[in-house]
Amino acid sequence: MAPLACSVLVTGSNRGIGLELVQQLAETTDPPEHIFATCRNPAGSQGKALRELADKHPTIHVVQLDVKDPSSLKAAVSVVESHLNGKGLNLLINNAGVAIYGSLETMEQEEMLSVFNTNVVGPTLVVKEFLPLLKKAARESATEGMSCGKAAIINLTSRLGSIGRGFEFEGPPVYSYRVTKAALNMATACMASELQSEGVLCTALHPGWVKTDMGTAEAPLTVECSVRGILRVLANLSSLETGAFLDWEGNHFPW
Ligand SMILES: NC(=O)c1ccc[n+]([C@@H]2O[C@H](COP(=O)([O-])OP(=O)(O)OC[C@H]3O[C@@H](n4cnc5c(N)ncnc54)[C@H](OP(=O)(O)O)[C@@H]3O)[C@@H](O)[C@H]2O)c1
Repeated sequence: MAPLACSVLVTGSNRGIGLELVQQLAETTDPPEHIFATCRNPAGSQGKALRELADKHPTIHVVQLDVKDPSSLKAAVSVVESHLNGKGLNLLINNAGVAIYGSLETMEQEEMLSVFNTNVVGPTLVVKEFLPLLKKAARESATEGMSCGKAAIINLTSRLGSIGRGFEFEGPPVYSYRVTKAALNMATACMASELQSEGVLCTALHPGWVKTDMGTAEAPLTVECSVRGILRVLANLSSLETGAFLDWEGNHFPW
């Protein structure tokens, strides 16, 4: 089986869905040559599980990246570039995100701006900074069409950000989370439209309701199962899915 991509970068990869993405990518029979596992504090206790995983797999490069900090982003691009040795980056997975409980009546300006910064501004700047490497991968690929093996951006969104169906799902109010994921969806649609002619695929992906710190123990889906589904979906993406909103099983979701 061919690798999903020669090079993959994942944000927020020290726990939850991000950590499992890195683990499953590294443990597949034909792993990517480079897995850039980024997180905001790799040296601290939050980075322990990722460091232990990286010790077992030389394909994993642990890279510091705080999506809210533009200088850490620029430094991460340099580190990634140095490993790629003149090649482009094939697959960027914008996974890092935060959710804060709060309703319209309890929400404060500072909290709303902070969540917006992490869930919308951060992933958009990550794409902006890595775009030259993604475009390079697209330009230098010998394959036609679009795929994660060529050049792709995957933004981890949530069904709670869907205006069409997001209100079918009840639960505690997460006002800022819903609003920011709807905004991330629009950013994904903008990226898809702008980057279509460059051959860079852009898709918004809902991972399911997953047992992580964010999803809580109440969630029905294990992180292993969600990530297995996500990787299966990614392997089959083509130009038909650029600008689409999909779930972890490949079903189309309304914006
Ligand atoms: N779990 C679900 O049910 C569910 C459902 C729908 C969508 N999603 C989406 O899936 C993605 C992953 O969720 P998860 O369940 O794995 O969440 P999680 O367990 O809470 O993990 C969140 C990850 O994001 C990182 N992060 C937060 N702020 C960051 C920043 N400024 N810079 C870099 N990394 C940052 C965290 O790093 P630290 O350890 O440093 O905080 C952590 O690695 C999120 O985008 C989430 O919205 C999850």
